Amino acid sequence: MLQSTSLHVAIIMDGNGRWAARRGLPRAAGHRAGADAVRRVVEAAPGQGVAALTLFAFSADNWKRPPTEVAALMRLFARHLRTETARLVANGVRLEVVGRRDRLPAPLVAAIQAAELATAGGTALRFRLAVDYSARAAIPAGQLLPDVDLLIRTGGEQRLSDFLLWECAYAELYFTELMWPDFAAADLADALRAFHARQRRFGGLPEAAAG
Ligand code: FPP
Repeated sequence: MLQSTSLHVAIIMDGNGRWAARRGLPRAAGHRAGADAVRRVVEAAPGQGVAALTLFAFSADNWKRPPTEVAALMRLFARHLRTETARLVANGVRLEVVGRRDRLPAPLVAAIQAAELATAGGTALRFRLAVDYSARAAIPAGQLLPDVDLLIRTGGEQRLSDFLLWECAYAELYFTELMWPDFAAADLADALRAFHARQRRFGGLPEAAAG
């Protein structure tokens, strides 16, 4: 099977809250476990032929959540960036945060800038984190990313939720019932196996019919 080694995988990380509720834990515990899953997937991706990984951490519509949850998420993002930067550098991961920055707390903006600067030389993986991101806002502003090959959504819902609408024009879609904190390297491998088993036609004919 021909396996491209320059895939762009995008993930809508859903299900942190339900993962926590099922364990009788506060939602914040689900988000912390979600951050561990982020680390696992970022570290597994290059070995699975993924050249670019874009994770949806916070949508422009997530501001509608209770202020305490929003604040906890912002602190978690900043802490994660600060504590993970050395590992990202060691693993050759180049981090970039996409989305609006003008509504983010100053400590998070500072953590983003420091992490982006420190990881700028990474060549093993382009890791993009979407924070305060809206595809409907990004498209008219021309803030476009490379085409997505595989879009994964965890948590059982089957929708795009304003994520990379332009870039997913020909993406293969993969939905899993797994809650994001349970998502592991083997689950990324399962999704990639399903992806490689599909025939992408981009509007053309199947290879056999095209002669
Ligand atoms: C969706 O679960 C998840 C989010 C809105 C936040 C994404 C955040 C993380 C994965 C945590 C850490 C990320 C980084 C980059 C450190 P939900 O709260 O919508 O879950 P639910 O649908 O079960 O309520």
